[in-house]
Amino acid sequence: MSTAARSGIRFADRIHAIQESPTLAVMNRAAALTASAVAVADFGPGEPDFATPRHVGEAGKRAIDQGFTKYTNASGTKALRDAIAARYNRRYDTRLATENVITGSGGKQELFNLMLALIQEGDEVIIPVPYWVSFPDQVAFAGGKPVFAQTDPENQYRPRFEDIAAVATDRTRAVIINSPNNPTGAVIAESDLARIVEWCVARDIFLIYDETYELFVYEGRHASAIAWFNQHPENVIVVNSMSKTFAMTGWRLGYAIAHKDIISMLGKIQSHSTSNPSTISQAAAVEALNGDDTEVQRMFNAYSERRAWLVPALNRIAGFCCADPDGAFYVFPDINAFFGRGPVRDSTTFASFLLDEARVAVVPGAAFGQEQGVRISYATSMERIREGVSRIEAAVRKL
Ligand SMILES: Cc1ncc(COP(=O)(O)O)c(C=O)c1O
Repeated sequence: MSTAARSGIRFADRIHAIQESPTLAVMNRAAALTASAVAVADFGPGEPDFATPRHVGEAGKRAIDQGFTKYTNASGTKALRDAIAARYNRRYDTRLATENVITGSGGKQELFNLMLALIQEGDEVIIPVPYWVSFPDQVAFAGGKPVFAQTDPENQYRPRFEDIAAVATDRTRAVIINSPNNPTGAVIAESDLARIVEWCVARDIFLIYDETYELFVYEGRHASAIAWFNQHPENVIVVNSMSKTFAMTGWRLGYAIAHKDIISMLGKIQSHSTSNPSTISQAAAVEALNGDDTEVQRMFNAYSERRAWLVPALNRIAGFCCADPDGAFYVFPDINAFFGRGPVRDSTTFASFLLDEARVAVVPGAAFGQEQGVRISYATSMERIREGVSRIEAAVRKL
């Protein structure tokens, strides 16, 4: 039943285009159990378990002490936009300038604004499955239609050019690729990315490339769509965030890189909604981007060690089939061998079962458009990972 029917309050049609996440029930229950002092092994979180690097936090404190606490330009300070441009220019030989960068309250905000700026009623946007939860709802909220491209678990869910091309129509306006991927950890092959970029350019549509987890790639190399920006600035858009790379989720600072005309439209939207991201967070972000990546490397090493332990440990549990994802801090094992056993019918009932029987919280694949898996985050300590896995093992033996 809709909220409108319950209360009689009339809402705008657009709010009915989006839904609350289907996983909310399980996640809320995990939170309630934790609040009532039940020790839940929580594999749910999509955020680093590390503190923000000290020197970055100090820069935020300094900003407060120095009275750097007023509004800034709605798209962010020149210092921050230039620091982002310079970091990309150093790494990718791009020629980005201030006007190619906008900063906002999280990468999520820039993705949301991109949909509002680029997608019209009825436009189709191709999204590979499994997808990050917000993509389809952001497209739908803008009036567009999410069109899902299937990926192959045998290929670790890496999106391939053929998967994307197979679902294109003449209404296709954009493709969203997220690599490394949330929830699977999949990293797109550079050759597929190259073909997707060229194909987008040939059709004159947008490639929106979300590289929020860019620095957490354990096997092979991260391919960034920014490498094609010099040649195709009207088609290639990159979204990134301070959240995961620098363990700054709560600071709410993300950004988009695009043609200056696109950035100016995003700025227009932002100027009438949130205005600038927190001034204090901007000062901290400048410090993070201009500093060295020692802390990032430390987090990388820890994730890498956990992943090396976790994947074989899950595969030793009968019924689990876990690919070795190349990046991010998630694994997405297949659990469909358990369907039809005990109360388990799908990913949501499997997650409920783990919560009830093992006090382990995972996110059902249904949230990401893929029923046959669950997302397990290893952004939690090695000790908790070991404990959680042994509890899962004991619980599924009862099925
Ligand atoms: C794939 C992906 N994109 C974007 C975001 C948004 O991050 P933020 O809004 O914290 O910058 C997230 C956060 O979980 C994510 O996983």
